[in-house]
Amino acid sequence: MMSAATQLESIEDTLTRLTKDHQKILQELIFLEELLMEKTDALDKALLVFKKLRMLLQGDHHQREESVLYEWMLNQNVNVDQDIIARISKEHDELESLMERIGQQVQSTKILAFDLRDFIDLYREHIELEDKFIFQIAKGLISRHRLGER
Ligand SMILES: [Fe+2]
Ligand SMILES: [Fe+2]
Repeated sequence: MMSAATQLESIEDTLTRLTKDHQKILQELIFLEELLMEKTDALDKALLVFKKLRMLLQGDHHQREESVLYEWMLNQNVNVDQDIIARISKEHDELESLMERIGQQVQSTKILAFDLRDFIDLYREHIELEDKFIFQIAKGLISRHRLGER
């Protein structure tokens, strides 16, 4: 069992790591968007970028958020808004279903491009909600601990 101080440090590191991930994800989304706007058929390239991004999201980022940061937040003795965390987790599920569908590539090129477009928009909204809301709540909880409050 980690000491409270060690645990707090690892939560802070997680938050820093997740924030950096978001910057990287947003950059990849811009890149993806640019590829989709190209007149020449850049869809194959876009799918490769998407595939790499999906590995980060599904293979690491969502899990790190849910099982480390949000789990910690829910276990605090303060009133963390459970609804907002439930909503975020639901968004992860929905985004993963969408990524699944895009990854299967069974749709027509037109629908595939549309789904990718949709994914870009939804993911940006998701990051905005986390950065501007949940991560701010997490920061508040961390500094509350630093001040020795409970
Ligand atoms: Fe997330
Ligand atoms: Fe995130």
